[in-house]
Amino acid sequence: MNYFKDKTILLTGASGGLGAQFATQLMELGGKLILSDIKLEALDRFKPNAAKGQVLGMIAADISHKEGTEKFLADVKKISPCPDIIINNAGIAQAGNFGDVPLDRWEKLMNINLISPMRICHYFLPDMQTRGSGHIVNVSSVAGIVPLPGGAPYTASKHGLKGFSDAIREEYYKYGITVSSVHPFFTRTAILQSERFGINIDVDAYPQFLIENPENVVTETVKAIANKTDFILPGPTAKVIDLARRLSPRLVGLFSRDLLK
Ligand SMILES: NC(=O)c1ccc[n+]([C@@H]2O[C@H](COP(=O)([O-])OP(=O)(O)OC[C@H]3O[C@@H](n4cnc5c(N)ncnc54)[C@H](O)[C@@H]3O)[C@@H](O)[C@H]2O)c1
Repeated sequence: MNYFKDKTILLTGASGGLGAQFATQLMELGGKLILSDIKLEALDRFKPNAAKGQVLGMIAADISHKEGTEKFLADVKKISPCPDIIINNAGIAQAGNFGDVPLDRWEKLMNINLISPMRICHYFLPDMQTRGSGHIVNVSSVAGIVPLPGGAPYTASKHGLKGFSDAIREEYYKYGITVSSVHPFFTRTAILQSERFGINIDVDAYPQFLIENPENVVTETVKAIANKTDFILPGPTAKVIDLARRLSPRLVGLFSRDLLK
């Protein structure tokens, strides 16, 4: 039996590079999606899927603050009392030395990348516990296992999401709840053009074979979710970096020094 068939799947950041791939691939596998993003128009491409019953609802939600996330959760509840699978995928990035990033910008990043996913889990975990099943997928990053100098708030948010995932996994395993964290390397999506503060990174100047393709990243991730994998490293570079940091964390730190400049 296909793991996703007829499961209710809540997905944030559904119009983005990885999000649209998650939506498309999970619908093809029989999932019933609740899609959300900051702008409803960005989800228009999925209207035909709604007509076919593959999309249960589309929600506009700004999860960069408490009120937006609370409204989002209330809207989800109207569609499904408790989704079977929650994919916390929405995220933003910034490039800049920490002192150069305005406080309101990095606070916003922490809200979207870490606090809101925690709020979403906090809201649904008790219902998942009562039901005795559920799967939470938190999209972290390679920056959730190694530092990304020039992206300190991003690193903090993604390490936080990894640590949070590890903790709730052990708290809730006895209630039939699975928790996966996902750690992609640089992938060709809009996030690579994020805000810059005093740093002019040009990802196009990097060896292009290293930059992952969103479709491949999501295909590998979806298979790993179906296998209830805890720690997902899609793509070859993520796996090499994970091995390197296990062998010598300090060496990985030194290598990463001039990655963003
Ligand atoms: N692309 C990469 O290189 C890469 C690498 C590792 C991890 N990731 C992670 O993958 C996830 C998806 O990113 P992506 O690469 O598809 O980038 P993306 O920019 O294409 O998509 C991000 C999505 O998040 C949504 N979003 C942003 N702010 C929001 C807000 N305030 N409220 C609601 N939604 C909001 C955007 O509208 C967008 O749809 C992110 O969590 C990102 O950190 C990406």
